[in-house]
Formats: sequence, structure tokens, C-alpha cells
Amino acid sequence: MDEAHPRDLAASIEGLSCSLPRPSGLTLRRFTFEDRQWLASLLKINSVPEYDHLQMADILWMIDQVHPATMVVGLRHGSPVAILAARPSGPYLHLLFMDVEPTQQRQGIGAFLLRGLQAHAAKVHRSIIAEVYTGNGSALRFYLRYAFEIVGRIPDYYEQGLDAHAIQWDSPLV
Ligand SMILES: CC(C)(COP(=O)(O)OP(=O)(O)OC[C@H]1O[C@@H](n2cnc3c(N)ncnc32)[C@H](O)[C@@H]1OP(=O)(O)O)[C@@H](O)C(=O)NCCC(=O)NCCS
Repeated sequence: MDEAHPRDLAASIEGLSCSLPRPSGLTLRRFTFEDRQWLASLLKINSVPEYDHLQMADILWMIDQVHPATMVVGLRHGSPVAILAARPSGPYLHLLFMDVEPTQQRQGIGAFLLRGLQAHAAKVHRSIIAEVYTGNGSALRFYLRYAFEIVGRIPDYYEQGLDAHAIQWDSPLV
């Protein structure tokens, strides 16, 4: 198995991120079948309202079955509050998406997940790539704060014809 693709990315991040400031009550685990309904409701708030979010959650669950360890769930006092999805893509780790429940944002959960993913990426000598909607200034600011750089612009990246910034974080060991 590709070393950048552990069977349990959540456990890998947990093991590496013990030195990072942890928001109180936050734990990580793999995405499960039972998380689909919760993920659908989160995607409905944080992504395009017209999508069939339950179908999206079903598809993401299936992808996680085929490529185990793609999705990490953040729990606060036992309840799911955040999701991160990342998988190897050529020489990179591709951060597919990251979402935190609106009521739980700005409490360091996103930073804990992202810095944990960076610690994992550094261990397996991979840079991280991601895409951010050009209109999502707060998400872009968040990534730039954690040493990502804009490396390009992808026209029509989203179905609605919207552009994305291509962003990248280089592992110090690459
Ligand atoms: C972008 C996102 C993942 C960040 O997650 P988060 O948990 O809110 O992130 P953090 O709390 O770690 O940091 C966010 C901001 O809160 C600030 N913050 C962190 N802890 C804080 C606290 N206790 N009190 C006040 N502010 C705090 C951080 O400094 C940071 O500031 P910045 O916006 O200037 O960078 C989240 O806001 C989100 O899900 N947004 C909607 C979906 C989205 O846009 N996803 C990314 C698409 S690619």
C-alpha cells in the first residue's frame, strides 16, 4: 500500500498532532456509513444548496470504501462537527475538501485538522494541493495563514462556471 495512504488517516493524524493545540473535546475518527446523513446536512449549509447532498454523501462514503482512509471526521464531545477528505494524487496529497459546522467555526478545529494533515504529509514527503473558490476569501485567508501559496487559477473549475485558486503547501522535506 502507498505509504501516503494509511488505512486510517484519522489515526495517523491523531498520532502526529498530539503537540498541536487541541480544541477541547475534539477527537478524530474514520468516516462511517452512519455519518452520511450528518455530512449531507453539513454540505447543504456549506456548499451549493441545489445539489442532492445525501447522494453526494453516499458517493463520498463509497469513495472512502474504495480508497480507505480518505475521510476524517472531527468529533466534539462525541458528536460530528467537521470533515476533511484527502488522498494521494501523483506526488501530492490532494485535500479534496474541509468543512466545519458553522457553530463550531473560529475555534481552532480547522487549524487542528489542517496542521495534522500537514504533519502527515511531511512524514510521507508529500506536498498538499487544494482548490478554493475565488469568491471564498475567508477560506483562502485560512489556508494562506497555514503557509499555503496560490500557484494558479483554474477557470470554470466548478459546475456553475466559477473559477478556483489552485493552492499548494510544500512539505519542508520535499
Ligand atoms: C474554512 C474552515 C474550514 C476553517 O475552519 P475553522 O475551524 O473555522 O478554522 P479555525 O478556527 O482554525 O481558524 C479560522 C479563523 O478563526 C480564528 N480563530 C481560531 N480560533 C479562534 C478563537 N478561539 N476565537 C476567535 N477566532 C479564532 C483563526 O485565527 C482563523 O482566522 P483567519 O480567518 O484570519 O484565518 C471553516 O471556516 C469552514 O468550514 N468554512 C466553510 C466551508 C469552507 O469554506 N471550506 C473550505 C473550502 S475549500
